[in-house]
Amino acid sequence: MRINSGFNVFNQPYLFQKMEQTFSEFSPERKSQVINLGIGDPDLPTPAPIREAIVREHQTKHYGYPTSQGRLDLREAVCKYYDDRFGVSMNPDQIFIGPGAKTDLFDLNAVFAEPGDSVVILDPAYPVYKDAAGFRKQSIHFLTGTLENNFQPVLDVLKIDNPLSLIYLCYPNNPTGVSASKDYIQSFVDLANTNQCMIVMDIAYADFVPGNGESSSFSIFNLPGADAVGIEAGSFSKPFSMTGDRISWVAIKNRVAAQHWHRYRSSRDSGVSNYDQAGALAALTDPHVKDIVKSNFEIYGKRARILRQGIQSLGFKMTGLDNTPYAWFKSPNPDSVRSAEFLLEKAGVMLTPGVGFGPAGEGFLRATIFQPEDRLYEALERMQNLDMTHI
Ligand SMILES: Cc1ncc(COP(=O)(O)O)c(C=O)c1O
Repeated sequence: MRINSGFNVFNQPYLFQKMEQTFSEFSPERKSQVINLGIGDPDLPTPAPIREAIVREHQTKHYGYPTSQGRLDLREAVCKYYDDRFGVSMNPDQIFIGPGAKTDLFDLNAVFAEPGDSVVILDPAYPVYKDAAGFRKQSIHFLTGTLENNFQPVLDVLKIDNPLSLIYLCYPNNPTGVSASKDYIQSFVDLANTNQCMIVMDIAYADFVPGNGESSSFSIFNLPGADAVGIEAGSFSKPFSMTGDRISWVAIKNRVAAQHWHRYRSSRDSGVSNYDQAGALAALTDPHVKDIVKSNFEIYGKRARILRQGIQSLGFKMTGLDNTPYAWFKSPNPDSVRSAEFLLEKAGVMLTPGVGFGPAGEGFLRATIFQPEDRLYEALERMQNLDMTHI
């Protein structure tokens, strides 16, 4: 059997093997006491009007393939969202409904880069960008984010030998939780125009705002020059608790790029199920959904305050939680896997080791707010009672 050697980049199982093994060796009782702050999956349910729309669609018109680009009414609703939310004018031909941003982000690489090309990735980052590029044997140029540069590493340190074809950006960011300034993103738009390459801007968290504060996010299409080089990946997953529905969108203004993405999508699969699309349409248009999301964000806001205070009282420098569900903080030991294992073993608290998000993630841990308040308090208390000096 011949296996694509691109698989070698999927090092995640290796990295977390030890933690998984530690957990699997726990007794069932001990397992049940573990508080998992590692998960990035909203625990509050999908708003009822969305679920009702999905059921209604399934009961009435469940048969037949969907279209590969997505329903016109949903694409029109995404255009309205762009106008209301960002003041950006899009037309439905520029919107492509997809089976989850994860899939879109992995696939965009197949269309807009070739094996051997260079791909720029912010480090630390959502691992899919790296996996997509590594799998296709591209040369990855990490831009190193640090607390000092507020995870917005500057561009002039770049040394790129191969043709630069793709830049992946994500703000508000997973895992660091920081947002970028428009000037910062503009520098990439300018670079992409100079190099005639594309930028994938991942805005999966644009509308995830614990506490309902002001969202700091914007669309790449707010920036001059972005129409030619911008590709925006959006997701219904986090703000609407729709992770299980697998639905997303890609927005592309460049006509040639849009044509190629459309062509690829129509060969790759047969579109997103009509009932999930009905749910996404309800997410954007049903007035009750707005109220439910707002009250969910009140709950998430309280949890974010608890987590922030707890982490700060432990003395760890942190970022995040304003526009993402993530707290990103210095791990007690520079080895993030070792720190996470220690906390799992001694406190029964599961966190994500930062190195899983790239080399610049080493020395950090990520915690999420997808646990009820009492579990968060409990996790923090357990950590406060630990002596972490000798990890
Ligand atoms: C930055 C980022 N982009 C995309 C995704 C995936 O979104 P989806 O559920 O639409 O595949 C995630 C999921 O955690 C994410 O953190």
